[in-house]
Amino acid sequence: MDIFVTIATKRKCIIERTLGLIVFFISSTTPGFSQKQTLINIETAHNAIVLQADTGNRLGVIYFGEKLKKAAEYQSIPAMTKRQADVDYSGIFHSAYTPAGSRNLVEPAIQVTHADGNTSLDLQYVSHSTKKIDDNVSLTTVLLKDPAYPFEVTLYYKVYQKEDVMEQWSVIRHKENGNVMLQKFASANLFFSANQYWLRQYHGDWAREMQPEETRLTPGIKVLDSKLGTRENLYQPPSFMVSFNSPATEDEGKVLLGSVEWSGNFRVDLEVDPLNDLRLIAGMNNFASEYSLKPSEEFTTPAFLYTYSVKGKGEASRNLHDWAREYRILNGKGSRETLLNNWESTYFDFNESILSELVKDAKKLGVDVFLLDDGWFGNKYPRNNDHAGLGDWQENKKKLPNGIGYLVKEAQKNAVKFGIWVEPEMVNPKSELYEKHPDWVIREPNRPEHLYRNQLVLDLSNPKVQDFLVSIFDTLFIKNPGLAFIKWDCNAVIYNAHSAYQQKQSHLYIDYVRGLYKVMERVRAKYPKVPMMLCSGGGGRVDYGALKYFTEFWVSDNTDPLERIFMQYEYSYFFPAIAHDNHVTDWGKQPLKFRTDVAMMGKLGFDIVVSKLNENDLKFCQQAVINYKSVSDEVWHGDLYRLMSPRENDFASLMYVNKDRSKAVMFNYLVNNRFGAGSTLPVKLKGLQADKKYSVKEINIYPGTKSTLEENAVFSGDYLMTIGFNPNVNVRRTSVILEINEVK
Ligand code: DGJ
Repeated sequence: MDIFVTIATKRKCIIERTLGLIVFFISSTTPGFSQKQTLINIETAHNAIVLQADTGNRLGVIYFGEKLKKAAEYQSIPAMTKRQADVDYSGIFHSAYTPAGSRNLVEPAIQVTHADGNTSLDLQYVSHSTKKIDDNVSLTTVLLKDPAYPFEVTLYYKVYQKEDVMEQWSVIRHKENGNVMLQKFASANLFFSANQYWLRQYHGDWAREMQPEETRLTPGIKVLDSKLGTRENLYQPPSFMVSFNSPATEDEGKVLLGSVEWSGNFRVDLEVDPLNDLRLIAGMNNFASEYSLKPSEEFTTPAFLYTYSVKGKGEASRNLHDWAREYRILNGKGSRETLLNNWESTYFDFNESILSELVKDAKKLGVDVFLLDDGWFGNKYPRNNDHAGLGDWQENKKKLPNGIGYLVKEAQKNAVKFGIWVEPEMVNPKSELYEKHPDWVIREPNRPEHLYRNQLVLDLSNPKVQDFLVSIFDTLFIKNPGLAFIKWDCNAVIYNAHSAYQQKQSHLYIDYVRGLYKVMERVRAKYPKVPMMLCSGGGGRVDYGALKYFTEFWVSDNTDPLERIFMQYEYSYFFPAIAHDNHVTDWGKQPLKFRTDVAMMGKLGFDIVVSKLNENDLKFCQQAVINYKSVSDEVWHGDLYRLMSPRENDFASLMYVNKDRSKAVMFNYLVNNRFGAGSTLPVKLKGLQADKKYSVKEINIYPGTKSTLEENAVFSGDYLMTIGFNPNVNVRRTSVILEINEVK
């Protein structure tokens, strides 16, 4: 092959694909390539991923993008395979599941050491099939086998048609004479062809979760990962987006939103290969996690979830929300209950009579649930601060002489439900549990313990520890069948990752999460309906692996409303508002109205001292709970449109529209206090129906103040979406909520 011709061809091709993810075409008459090779076409309502086996039966991704009207025409896209043979010496840059150790020269999806010590792997296409699960969901499986070893991988592609969502995972098995060591085991291996790739990734720490960073991917590998063991979301979440050609906006551009469904160490490799194509490999992190697989045993990876849109981030996120509510988040299409939490009003300092008063405050406020937080347990080592007691899940007799049961009854008397906080995965060295079962604790036997928030993590890979966790819930529910809400916290990361139970230490990180899911599975089998908040010292664990078992998640311990506008905005790309737990607290300098308005953009809760509210503040909060009920259906189940980004404007605007376009709610918040900052122009609404008429009314007005907007003004949807509406946000009106109703 003439190298100059190759380079010229490559350049020509790059120019030809400026319009997007179109795989460029080269004559398919080259010897050795047959157009009749197996073609696997996996389509959602608008998109397709097309796989093809080459003459050597190696399966490649030959297309990813908008689907063609005539599926037969995918047959005419053999170019990627052809081109790869020309300029990719290995021929498998575009592999659908890249094996390490044979001809591969780039980042692998799978790497193994066979039972005989050999480290090579080749995977060839054997067969595939597609099963229709229902009218919307289908599952394509593709079997790949190593021609030299009895080793195979099945790739799974689960398609959610209507939502344009895909879940991909793999199952690895073998029949070798002895164990095979798995060194890398991705869930998915995708391949894209565009001019440029823009990654929006997130980073953070406690109280500063979900800080975005958008950069162009350059040749080489960018890895997003976690090695924290638990709290995988803390430094870097498993959710990200990639825009193709240029950064996507809300309404324009090609964009993929992806997330690894795993509540532990994850890894996403984004490799711009030597041909400027993007290889995306996602799954569990293989860091310190070599896994030994017995003959005939199956190793199933978690799924990598993604959606793709050519109409920008807005549509992609709305599709993901629809998917999450329908298929993933527990009771995703149901309703949520407002609550009063005692954490920030009492911390550990409470007793039965203080809590009984708080229960009454919950009633006074008008919320549905009172949530008792940390500090209710431990006797030998009372949980009076965060240094002791974790693991000893018996009511503290001094604080609660009549047990939780008494408080549940108090709540019932006040027509309020009762919820409780637990942190089942953890132990304080100062606890009876630690004294009794030091072997249940993850720690290095030969090194000093290293604590995180004065605590250590229990070894959930040990079935006895799993049983212990389930028993915590059993005891709580058997003694108190009236319990109506659980907050499941997880405050420590895994240091000194060593298990007294594991024979092979490198299994710990993976088996920890598998053990965790087993516990959640068992708890849910017994208590399927009780709403449960996924919390992790703030938003340290936010992923679609765990959200299968939870109704909601705690966004962050940082409840400063200004910060929350930014955080909630970024979380909203991946998770629908019905799952965002937002509490009104005393964090930040903003007025109560601002704090409440921000918390209403999700599931509303309070963590304030109700008895200290002045008359107007109390009146405002009570009315806010009522107002929230009138718009929560739109927030929870409606379509989200981000109208003004807080990162680019003086104020943020977002709106939720119900599915039949008859009602919407619009939230507006000032995020800049500079002179004259505010909504100087109308904001164009979105998602309404042009030919409908709508009234626009300001709600959640603080007692004694008046809206500056005309009362119940009526406009056409066309007007509101073309000209817009000015919510009149300014330094005197820092947050404005508008209720928009169809007028018939
Ligand atoms: C961390 C959580 O994020 C807080 O809301 C609170 O529950 C504390 N833990 C209790 O220790």
